[in-house]
Amino acid sequence: MTKITYIAPNGSQFDVDADNGSTVMENAIRNAVPGIEAECGGACACATCHVYVDPDWAEAAGEPEAMEEDMLDFAFEVQPTSRLSCQIIVREELDGLVVRIPERQA
Ligand code: FES
Repeated sequence: MTKITYIAPNGSQFDVDADNGSTVMENAIRNAVPGIEAECGGACACATCHVYVDPDWAEAAGEPEAMEEDMLDFAFEVQPTSRLSCQIIVREELDGLVVRIPERQA
C-alpha cells in the first residue's frame, strides 16, 4: 500500500491507500476525489485527469513521456510539475505522494 494525498483547490485533503501497480487516476476515481474526471478511462487521450505533482515529489513521479506531453497541451493552466494522473503508476517509492487538483477541473 502506498499513501497518496490529493488536495482540492479549496484545500480539502483526501488521503488514500493505493495499491501498487494501479494509477494515481484510478485511486482518485475509486475514492471519489473531486476534479478527476478521467473521461478516456486512462488512455492518455483526454487530459481530464490533470494534476500538479507537489514539487517535492516531482522527481520521484518522473517526467511525462512524449504522448503524455502532447496531451498536456489540452489541459488547463499547465505548470512545470503538471502530469496526467493516469500515467503515474503507484509504487512504493511514491509513498506519501502529494498531488493537487487544478482549479478549472474541480
Ligand atoms: Fe484521460 Fe488520463 S484519464 S488522459
